[in-house]
Amino acid sequence: MSAPGAPEALRLSGVSAAYGPYRALFDVSLGVEAGQAVALLGSNGAGKSTVARVASGLVVPTSGSLFIGGTEMTGSPTWRIARAGVAHVPEGRGVFSALSIEENLELAFGRRAGKGAGAALARAYDEFPLFYERRRQRAGTLSGGQQRLLSLAGALVQPPALLIADELSLGLSPSVVDDVYTALGSIQRAGCALLVVEQQIDRVLELAVRAVILERGSVAFAGPSNDAPAAMASILAARGERSLALPGTGHSRTE
Ligand SMILES: Nc1ncnc2c1ncn2[C@@H]1O[C@H](COP(=O)(O)OP(=O)(O)OP(=O)(O)O)[C@@H](O)[C@H]1O
Ligand SMILES: [Mg+2]
Repeated sequence: MSAPGAPEALRLSGVSAAYGPYRALFDVSLGVEAGQAVALLGSNGAGKSTVARVASGLVVPTSGSLFIGGTEMTGSPTWRIARAGVAHVPEGRGVFSALSIEENLELAFGRRAGKGAGAALARAYDEFPLFYERRRQRAGTLSGGQQRLLSLAGALVQPPALLIADELSLGLSPSVVDDVYTALGSIQRAGCALLVVEQQIDRVLELAVRAVILERGSVAFAGPSNDAPAAMASILAARGERSLALPGTGHSRTE
């Protein structure tokens, strides 16, 4: 957990963001303490991935500020934010499917490890013997779940200060979701803060102590993760929708 007084891993302060004329985020403020896991929830199009992109520098806010580890980095390029300790596994499988498994791992380690990349690669192969056996194969030949694990391998071997994971469990079978969440738990125990984007909330709330729910580009709830299911239900009820994403309902989405 976070050391007393440690700067927050992530802080968005009054962030608005847009894609051209389309405004996707409105005055969003949220934080992730050092070593803490926070769930970022909300329906399709609520703005979750946009928050993830703002936090990793892929989207620059139109107003408001981004702080990484207590340092303002609004408008900094993605490489500088990555160097400050932020790793982002984007939506989709987060791997380069035309590159080999080894090339994917080298890219993941090279970004932060520099000359230590060889040792990190050896540790990744210890942890995931399958990736060693198949190291020369294209990453696109791995199953969907194996690709998600490959996208987490870098963070497992060399935990960043903050890992942003965007809908890692989407489309995976429950046992593979277990593997993904086991990996996320290990990454957090190594001291890494997590911002975990999910639509399906049961699994992520086991990991996260706090949750933020976005609704149409604004923060509709922020608080203890235990209170998130009720908050989600009332947000959806206010919209006249029944929650299909409450605990126990498996992988349903609200589409
Ligand atoms: N590249 C883009 N260009 C234009 N509009 C975009 C782009 N990416 C997202 N948007 C719009 O911004 C809004 C927020 O999208 P975002 O991807 O952040 O939602 P999300 O909560 O991640 O949704 P989902 O659960 O479906 O992944 C949506 O209305 C979406 O259509
Ligand atoms: Mg998304």
